[in-house]
Amino acid sequence: MSIKRIAIFASGSGSNAEKIAQYFAQHPSVEVSLILSNNPQAGVIARARKLNIPVVLFDKKTFTETQKIVELLQNQRIDLVVLAGFMMLIPEPMVQAFPQKMVNIHPALLPKFGGKGMYGHFVHEAVVAAQESESGITIHYVNEHYDEGAIIFQASCSVSSTDTSESVAAKVQVLEHQHYPAVIEQLLA
Ligand code: GAR
Repeated sequence: MSIKRIAIFASGSGSNAEKIAQYFAQHPSVEVSLILSNNPQAGVIARARKLNIPVVLFDKKTFTETQKIVELLQNQRIDLVVLAGFMMLIPEPMVQAFPQKMVNIHPALLPKFGGKGMYGHFVHEAVVAAQESESGITIHYVNEHYDEGAIIFQASCSVSSTDTSESVAAKVQVLEHQHYPAVIEQLLA
């Protein structure tokens, strides 16, 4: 049985990337082979170094106007592309190169609170402003549009009138760390 290889794309802190890498660190058939980022200041880079996972940094132009990243993923025989707080739209050729093999996590219950500009704290602020009674996470396949691919998994948490965007973010992060690695494992099984 060959080892399944994951590449994680992250633009920010990278707490999800770290949880996923830790989850698979001793795994018999899955490894996190590569962490990629468009942001040289991203916290995920220090986390990746600590975890001894190779890091690839790229700029916007390389990502959107060339095939270099797709070729790299293909040369590295990546089986699943995992977006974890990655803030760029995936170019069409890359979506087509990884049909049903690229997943994203969104910090709300899609189709609510998704789309361009809906990321990180903006999502939780919108949830609180709309006086929602619940929020949660959505793990979905990636297509050419922000947050629109087929939904694979959702989990929810309650939101009350005393919640702030920070407290909602904390509840959602618990769900992300709890579920994302296991859902990835199931997809690769
Ligand atoms: C996560 O909450 C993820 O769901 C969100 O960014 C955060 C990254 O946290 N992604 C989006 O908002 C995408 N639209 P992390 O860097 O600590 O993993």
